[in-house]
Amino acid sequence: MKDVREDSYQLSSKNFKFICDYVYDSAGIVLGEAKREMLYRRLTRVIRERKLPSFDAYCDLLRSQPEQERTYFINAITTNLTSFYREQHHFDYLAKHEFPKLLNKNSDSKRIRLWSSASSTGEEPYSLGITTHQSFAPVLSQWDIKILATDIDSNVLATAKEGVYTANRVEGISQSIQQKYFKKGTGANETKVRVTDEVRSLITFKQLNLLHEWPVKGPFDVIFCRNVIIYFDKATQQDLFARYYELLAPGGLLMLGHSENLGEYQRYFENVGRTIFRKPE
Ligand SMILES: C[S@@+](CC[C@H](N)C(=O)[O-])C[C@H]1O[C@@H](n2cnc3c(N)ncnc32)[C@H](O)[C@@H]1O
Repeated sequence: MKDVREDSYQLSSKNFKFICDYVYDSAGIVLGEAKREMLYRRLTRVIRERKLPSFDAYCDLLRSQPEQERTYFINAITTNLTSFYREQHHFDYLAKHEFPKLLNKNSDSKRIRLWSSASSTGEEPYSLGITTHQSFAPVLSQWDIKILATDIDSNVLATAKEGVYTANRVEGISQSIQQKYFKKGTGANETKVRVTDEVRSLITFKQLNLLHEWPVKGPFDVIFCRNVIIYFDKATQQDLFARYYELLAPGGLLMLGHSENLGEYQRYFENVGRTIFRKPE
């Protein structure tokens, strides 16, 4: 049933434009008329939580305290949809082709760096962590293997760090992986599972806005940038691709989401699989 209180808030064109500009400046996310309903729903929730009377009052708050409000605002408007092994073909490619190759290629440095750059609630970096653990298990203690997982949204990062999920989130995963890499909760937590320490210890979670400086240390062998650039405009996308390119090791891979492409930047990469792009050696 529709919440009647929501209808009492009016979102004027002027406020809608102000909010769209604020989103763009804060997170690079482009919102058009098609996203008006979504924005309205999410922000009326914030307005109620803030006990404000109107969108006018909320926009005034954003204007007067842009920094204090920004985190809360960004957390409210980001879309965090994700799942374990989403776009499974990326993990299959790593397990079948890339990781065996890296075992050979990086055998001198014994160093592997992977980055999940819009990690949301953690399902993506943990799927990557499990795949990494499976492929590198025999050398893990001698090699320096690290996965960086970052996101702009501090709420999803907190969930990700915890690594605790309701059991239905892992239902689609094979029984053998569930048994090996997820620990079942007990007592009050019996409907939950927790990613095991051997996988958790491979991953570091950090807050990072893709539009700002990236305090990260490359070169990376694989970068996941999936289902995030669709929210950015073309110029921002191209700028990000140039930065990913710089941070990738020669021969490194960039993975995009199913509906994303490199646009003009395609000519600098080799397309080696579905939404899998290799920086030339
Ligand atoms: C739809 S989720 C995708 C999650 C995962 N990569 C996947 O494909 O399943 C998009 C994520 O991008 C994050 N995001 C949006 N704008 C961002 C920005 N400017 N910098 C970093 N992360 C951002 C959101 O917080 C959200 O968690």
